[in-house]
Amino acid sequence: MKSRPAAVEITSIFQARFPGEPRAFRAPGRVNIIGEHTDNYDGYVFPIAVSMATTAAAAPRRDRTIRVWSENMQELATLPLDRLERREHWSDYVAGVAAMLEAEGIRLPGADVCIVSDVPIGGGLSSSAALEVSTAMAFLSLADHSLDGVALAKLGRRAENEFVGMNCGIMDQFVAVHAERGKGLLLDCRTLDYELVPLPAEEAAIVVCNTMVKHELGASEYNARRADTLAGTDLLKAIYPEVRALRDVSYEMFEAAASQLPEPIRQRCRHVITENQRVLNGITALKEGRLEVFGDLMNASHESLRSDYEVSCEELDIMVEAARGLPGVLGARMTGGGFGGCTVNLVRPGQVPVFQEEIARRYHKATGLKPDVHITEPMDGAREIT
Ligand code: GLA
Repeated sequence: MKSRPAAVEITSIFQARFPGEPRAFRAPGRVNIIGEHTDNYDGYVFPIAVSMATTAAAAPRRDRTIRVWSENMQELATLPLDRLERREHWSDYVAGVAAMLEAEGIRLPGADVCIVSDVPIGGGLSSSAALEVSTAMAFLSLADHSLDGVALAKLGRRAENEFVGMNCGIMDQFVAVHAERGKGLLLDCRTLDYELVPLPAEEAAIVVCNTMVKHELGASEYNARRADTLAGTDLLKAIYPEVRALRDVSYEMFEAAASQLPEPIRQRCRHVITENQRVLNGITALKEGRLEVFGDLMNASHESLRSDYEVSCEELDIMVEAARGLPGVLGARMTGGGFGGCTVNLVRPGQVPVFQEEIARRYHKATGLKPDVHITEPMDGAREIT
């Protein structure tokens, strides 16, 4: 029922700019509950889709031009399908998706496209994957083609890796496609096997706190961490020939080889190896209803991201610290790529109103910034809205 006003709204925004009857596709942002900076190393992640989402509405054109209007940016971009190139612009994600679809042999018609999003940009909730997945679905519908969920997620990632130049893993696009209401998605980033694990809302609320600091350093630092981690993987492969990715290295193996890894490579690898274990332990705890244990693992994840992977920042640390002292807080950590963006907090439902007020007050006192505090439940993945 909820998608009806959204469809009417996006259609009227579309028709204020373009002729024709569009079809509209909505893809959610995500918040990762645990398993951060593991997806590039064949590891485990446990994200959910959030209620914030990006909608792409599109209708075909007769030429080979994509005209895309961003309601958020209040800007029109014109992308010629026969000369798509990166321009360091928001429309690169759209162009990248079109380029990758064509590279897959799916010939696209020109299109008028309208994008509306309430996923904060640069807020660590993966506005980029939401944009990639929603536009990919819109383009596919115009080309009268379909891709299965895994292929769709892979295509979005490829657009980001090969066109935008951000060497992200598969987590964001995968959860944007496959998420289910009320559940977290445990993904094995090697096999792409996944399990939907219930996150009982009556026992813990998921509260997302936006530091309001944008991760502008994000892409370059992200790629740099990845390069360090892959260099460490190569050193470990030389010691343990059976290793294909860090996911194959146990903590015992790591410890035995640690003296042969220079810093900061050692720290980077330690984060990934311990984080994978935290995900698996966390899922066991969750299934046994031991939410305190799960929360402790979230806390440990933040510590590891802060000191070993070094992707936190002052504001994220302040937000996490502020949460930890509050009643009913099971766990708090930064979420997403880092260097700004959001924290994710697991809070006993009865304490949520106090948490909301107090965290905003504490964070504002320490930084002068007013955070957005958002209570979310796990939501469904991408679909057409009618
Ligand atoms: C970004 C990337 C993901 C993942 C996270 C960190 O969101 O897009 O693939 O690596 O950072 O967990």
